[in-house]
Amino acid sequence: MCGIIGYAGSREPVGIVLEALSRLEYRGYDSSGVAYFGSDGKVSVARASGKLSRLSEALQGTTGIPDVAIGHIRWATHGAPTEENAHPHRSGPIVLVHNGIIENERALRRELVGQGYVFSSETDTEVLAHLILRAYREEGDLSQAVRKGLASVEGSYALAVLCEEAPGQLVAVRKGAPLILGEASGEYFVASDVPAFLKWTRRVMPLPPEVVATLSPEGLSLCRLSDGQPVPAVFEEVPWDPVQAEKGHYRHFMEKEIFEGPRAIMDTLEGRLGEENSRVFLPELVRLGPNPTEIVFVACGTSYHAALLGRLMIEALSPVPVRVEIASEFRYRPLRFRKGAWVVGISQSGETADTLGALEVARREGYLTVGVTNVGGSSITRETEAVLLTRAGPEIGVASTKAFIAQVTLVWLLALYLGRRESSEVRDSLGLLVRSPARLEGFLGAIVPAEIDRMSRQILEARFVIFIGRGVDYPLAIEGALKMKEITYRPADGYPGGELKHGPIALVEPGVLVVAPLVDSRLRPKETSNIREIEARGGTVLTIGPAGSGPEDLVPSFLLPETSGWDGVFFASAVLQLLAYRAAFLAGNDVDQPRNLAKSVTVE
Ligand code: F6R
Repeated sequence: MCGIIGYAGSREPVGIVLEALSRLEYRGYDSSGVAYFGSDGKVSVARASGKLSRLSEALQGTTGIPDVAIGHIRWATHGAPTEENAHPHRSGPIVLVHNGIIENERALRRELVGQGYVFSSETDTEVLAHLILRAYREEGDLSQAVRKGLASVEGSYALAVLCEEAPGQLVAVRKGAPLILGEASGEYFVASDVPAFLKWTRRVMPLPPEVVATLSPEGLSLCRLSDGQPVPAVFEEVPWDPVQAEKGHYRHFMEKEIFEGPRAIMDTLEGRLGEENSRVFLPELVRLGPNPTEIVFVACGTSYHAALLGRLMIEALSPVPVRVEIASEFRYRPLRFRKGAWVVGISQSGETADTLGALEVARREGYLTVGVTNVGGSSITRETEAVLLTRAGPEIGVASTKAFIAQVTLVWLLALYLGRRESSEVRDSLGLLVRSPARLEGFLGAIVPAEIDRMSRQILEARFVIFIGRGVDYPLAIEGALKMKEITYRPADGYPGGELKHGPIALVEPGVLVVAPLVDSRLRPKETSNIREIEARGGTVLTIGPAGSGPEDLVPSFLLPETSGWDGVFFASAVLQLLAYRAAFLAGNDVDQPRNLAKSVTVE
């Protein structure tokens, strides 16, 4: 939710800030703004509602002096996405950008209004600008003013602050929302996510919570928010290849990221398989002690669907029982898991507030927690006892694609890790997983775009699309429906195949389309019955499966390679992702930035 960038260095900053914002657009895109020093020594602020392109057009040819500058891209929480509510916000010489939610905003606003401060927006952020100004008037130093100004603030924030009276200084601080520092020769960056500045440096340091960073073209210093005590800065090289964060020859990030699925599997397996791929090593888990008595997955959205697949995999290969919980509902029930259970949060971003909240409660209740995330250094990595990184590389498209594939790989690895090494099922399954990247690559390379488009058009013409599946096809079905809804905005829903007759079948009539992944070979006869029931009522069915998976006299509408296990999940996911992608594109939608959504959901 919202993206922040700050720059301190000796180059023209407006262009750098705008370019960095374009790489954070996935975090929000309803308004944007920048603040920079002009040649008159004053801070100029430019803001625009709507997509970043509107701000870039308005700023064409504008330059700032080499110094410090900040930028913001917004996903509205308090106040409509208007120019007035866009960041940066200003109070006298103080200019700042913010990501997060100030929970005691009303009380603080009342207090400040009582002291004569005038508000020009509905945002909670403006409260911060006034609080910092009030403290600056007393302290005369920007870093100290930020520390003092935040003392009465409750909630989450990531802030980047400039002061017109203190050129050459940019102060950043975070609590609950992410900020990453970047260091290049003679330049410093601070941003909500690494891709923002990956073009200029790969030396990064996640800013620890409640640590104040002061960036200037001359250097960087860190101190504790509570007492101002110095904190050392330790930068590390991130392995991300800047090219991964570019679109390359693809039209959209989503398309590119679907085709990066095989690499996501391969990178997630890297270093985790023993000699000749004989066994799975997850050394990250060793510190947790013996295997868990139970696994409780918590996750949201697509990550929740990966967890559902994880349950099937772990229960099939190991004796460990598994539960899967929607993170946003987790906190409202007593936690009565077995002693020795692990609570495993799956989160691509590692910043999802609901998942982090669920893990926090689990930890408080004495359970061991594990974070499965695609973003090293994200909040989940600091708030869990063990971390398993998926290695899909930066995912920019808002709809999760390759990150889902990497999550499925990881939960499959976890199932193999917990399974009995000597069992032939575990050995065969490991062999299948190891061969998956090459098979998926071959499959993606052979897909005929016209075939996807033919089905995508059928989806667009349908009044309603129902995705059904049993066994592993059920998580695939609800993931397919989610992907379809979020980027095509078409009515779609997913159900377990067997549930159709308990209600949803009433929706079936001519004009209704049913999409059925048919990967789970054990359940094919039952899925076939469901398909027949739909056809008998005038619905049209699109099946996605290997030869022979559909009703006897039918070839699947989209043919998958032969599968002998869960590798079919990768093939079917790729097809479901491509169907949603092409349908959204053919509908003229903004594929990478669907309306009302954001990549990182840092609010509850
Ligand atoms: C859908 C999608 C979302 C996320 C969900 C959780 O394509 O991306 O449903 O899966 O918001 O996000 P993470 O995994 O970052 O916790």
